[in-house]
Amino acid sequence: MSEIKTVGVLGAGLMGAGIAQVAAASGFTTRVREVSDALCQRGKAGIEKQLNKAIEKGKLTAEQRDATLGRLSFTTAVKDLKDCDIVIEAVIEELDVKNAMWKELDALCPAHTIFASNTSSLTIAAMAAATTRPDRMVGLHFFNPVPVMKLVEVVKTVTTSEESFKRAFDFAKKLNKEPIAAKDNSGFVVNLLLVPYLIDAINALEHGVATVDDIDKGMMLGTGYPMGPFTLLDFVGLDTTYKIAEIMFDEYREKRYAPPPLLKRMVMAGMFGRKSGKGFYDYSQDPPKVNELGL
Ligand code: CAA
Repeated sequence: MSEIKTVGVLGAGLMGAGIAQVAAASGFTTRVREVSDALCQRGKAGIEKQLNKAIEKGKLTAEQRDATLGRLSFTTAVKDLKDCDIVIEAVIEELDVKNAMWKELDALCPAHTIFASNTSSLTIAAMAAATTRPDRMVGLHFFNPVPVMKLVEVVKTVTTSEESFKRAFDFAKKLNKEPIAAKDNSGFVVNLLLVPYLIDAINALEHGVATVDDIDKGMMLGTGYPMGPFTLLDFVGLDTTYKIAEIMFDEYREKRYAPPPLLKRMVMAGMFGRKSGKGFYDYSQDPPKVNELGL
């Protein structure tokens, strides 16, 4: 079984940058691909900021930061990931976009290279089918913020070989994560349960059960969740949640995954949550205030 030394990451957004940071910090040579130099710069600056914060807190030394950054490189060319032992894809939830990259890499990467997708809701089978290596396609699903959240769902689809699954599982452990095995059902374990919960919270709000902050307070103080559902929705991104719910609804045709109209309206209005400054809360002030939605 060939050892993983070099890691490729497709995408330097919230998830891709987090995955790249963790891979480089764990000692892997890490190459990150973004579509433009500006996005490469943004991804790199975000990682530097996180590492500098850790130094300020006394959790990292300047030498460790420099070593991590020294193992990281950025490129705009997908082909620069051709020598990687594993490539982790963390681009937008569009199957065509993902598969175009997999096809390009499939023709360039050596036979032992594992392809791993960080998809939240698409099936791994739909990506495996686009390549000539369906036995080496897995899911590696990380959680936001990647450097903090311990879980990685390792997903085996119908074509994934035992060897590839084991390599991916062991790799997740080397990232100092806690992997769990999941089948290739849309949403895997966590989103299968989390997405209906978030949808129910929006439905409860629309039905006037309680206010945004009281529903959040209820779930935090009543069940010990670190964030209430609306804070979490804003944190994950309303656009992302909407997309995930749509894909899951399409897969299962069950009402529990149907994105509520309010979520759709908010996405249409550009209220994506924290990243756009407004969602269920308004982040233009500190602490954020409930965004009055005129319900
Ligand atoms: N990036 C990196 N590190 C971060 C961070 C970020 N965005 N936000 C917080 N942290 C770090 C802090 O620096 C701090 O580190 P230290 O312990 O080393 O000091 C630690 O996390 C705790 O942070 P805080 O004390 O500031 O705040 P907190 O205790 O409220 O924790 C939190 C913040 C970890 C985000 C916590 O609120 C939490 O666990 N929230 C739930 C997050 C969650 O459910 N994520 C999964 C979303 S679903 C998903 O990602 C998958 C999908 O497919 C949609």
